[in-house]
Amino acid sequence: MALDDKEIRSLIETANAARAHAYAPYSHYPVGAALRTKSGRIYTGVNIENAAYPTTICAERVAVFKAVSEGERDFEVIAVVTDNGGSPCGSCRQVLAEFGLDTIVLIADGSGKLAKTMTVGKLLPEAFQPRDLGVTGAVE
Ligand code: THU
Repeated sequence: MALDDKEIRSLIETANAARAHAYAPYSHYPVGAALRTKSGRIYTGVNIENAAYPTTICAERVAVFKAVSEGERDFEVIAVVTDNGGSPCGSCRQVLAEFGLDTIVLIADGSGKLAKTMTVGKLLPEAFQPRDLGVTGAVE
């Protein structure tokens, strides 16, 4: 799947706009995600922190969980925006890998500048997947 510049810009803008709703009173590091499914729907996510720090959830996983909870499992691309163009954490990589290694990941900074484009497979080489448990996963 080839993404054109307009689609890339638009998804990054959506992820960046979502950051306004991030709840990050501890880290002050708002993260926004915008996940587009193959059906064309877009699910946003933000990080939601908690005074009990480990219960914090990342923006990417919120977007994935929103999508899956509404019946969507086929993902095309996810844009992730942080102040400085930071990369998705290991837990988010693992959750994304469950639904396919080909999902494109756009990583951008707060000015909307695209820092990196890659796939989930590149972000998480040798991912542990449903097939490792002898299960046909969401994408096979
Ligand atoms: N965070 C995300 O939302 N996504 C990531 O992939 C990396 C980290 C959040 C979690 C926490 O609220 C803040 O960024 C600092 O770690």
